[in-house]
Amino acid sequence: MPLGTQDIETILFPEAEITQRVNELAEELQSRLEGERPIMVCVLKGAVFFFADLCRRMTCPMDLDFLQVSSYGMSSTSSGEIRMKKDLERNVAGRTVVLVEDIVDSGLTLRYLGQLLTQRGAKRVLTVAFLDRGTPATDLKGFSVDNSFVVGYGLDYAEEFRNLPYIATLKTAAIQ
Ligand code: PRP
Repeated sequence: MPLGTQDIETILFPEAEITQRVNELAEELQSRLEGERPIMVCVLKGAVFFFADLCRRMTCPMDLDFLQVSSYGMSSTSSGEIRMKKDLERNVAGRTVVLVEDIVDSGLTLRYLGQLLTQRGAKRVLTVAFLDRGTPATDLKGFSVDNSFVVGYGLDYAEEFRNLPYIATLKTAAIQ
């Protein structure tokens, strides 16, 4: 049977809770920017909904840019290697850059991207992740979750479930 909502186990963060937390993060991030115009960077694909919600709840002028790296592919465990699939269009030299992620797992992706942007001359790199695994790894985060496999609000399992408006755990039987 194809994957579907019958494979959802528990809703961890319903839509209303996500909305409230994103509003708080937008306010906090904006205060940290101290009037600067940031380059907001969406780390595709998982961050796409969080990025859109976060950016539209901020009121400061900003540039938007997108990148995609690959470390997991279709597998659920990290290969430990990062490959740039789509690079930024903007020059980050002298700019404050905000890296926006859906989830930090091992932290490998954000460490790699932070170093890369610093090498390219970014003045400051701020990191924000909607979820982390409990180990502080970003400047701002939405919520911490345990090591359960989570989907929705951009997060996938084998490219499914990204468009769920909530974040949920998957039943163990659904995970191969
Ligand atoms: C996921 C997630 C982060 C990264 C986190 O991306 O969106 O980018 O893995 O893992 P790490 O902290 O161990 O590096 P994935 O490669 O699954 O791509 P996707 O966003 O397109 O789903």
